[in-house]
Amino acid sequence: MGQSLPKPALRPFLAADTSVVAAIFVAAIQELTGDDYSEAQQEAWASAADDEEQFGKKRAGELTLIATLQNSPVGFASLKGADHIEMLFVHPGAVGQGVGAMLCDALEKLAGARGAKILTVDVSDNAQEFFLKRGYVAMQRNTVTINGEWLANTTMQKTLAEAAPGAPQ
Ligand SMILES: CC(C)(COP(=O)(O)OP(=O)(O)OC[C@H]1O[C@@H](n2cnc3c(N)ncnc32)[C@H](O)[C@@H]1OP(=O)(O)O)[C@@H](O)C(=O)NCCC(=O)NCCS
Repeated sequence: MGQSLPKPALRPFLAADTSVVAAIFVAAIQELTGDDYSEAQQEAWASAADDEEQFGKKRAGELTLIATLQNSPVGFASLKGADHIEMLFVHPGAVGQGVGAMLCDALEKLAGARGAKILTVDVSDNAQEFFLKRGYVAMQRNTVTINGEWLANTTMQKTLAEAAPGAPQ
């Protein structure tokens, strides 16, 4: 009889998660974005976690969820305000198991609960397919500069469904 894969679970971010979240962020950039960004661009992007304490403070200041597999953190996502996905990162060793979808589902529900009608996200080129599959639409192309490197991304948005009155969130 085949063994079923462990199911991901979600919990809120705690300050003690800072190092593991920074490590997931760096590993995801290094191993999952190389088809679309140069090594110099990846290094500049990942440098946002060089100051771990600051990186952790930012996650704590947003609505950040941790995804776990068998109690180990394997991904995280942050909602900034009511209507912007600021971060969505899954460890390369855990991709393709529905972790990203579970995190994104949760942020969409939380954004709706905060009153958002439209959710936006600045999507890196490697993640466009993921968001397209979830019903996000490309709105504009952006170029951002980080540590002297220029990186392109695309602002995408999704219109959130109205929750039925009395329906569970
Ligand atoms: C994008 C990312 C979060 C996806 O995480 P994941 O856990 O692998 O996603 P899931 O397993 O939940 O995939 C959900 C669906 O999207 C698809 N998908 C996921 N990543 C994809 C990709 N890079 N290209 C095409 N399809 C992708 C899956 O095949 C799956 O499709 P299905 O529902 O038809 O089976 C992850 O690859 C990642 O962390 N990437 C690097 C960091 C990054 O760019 N983050 C986004 C910043 S905006």
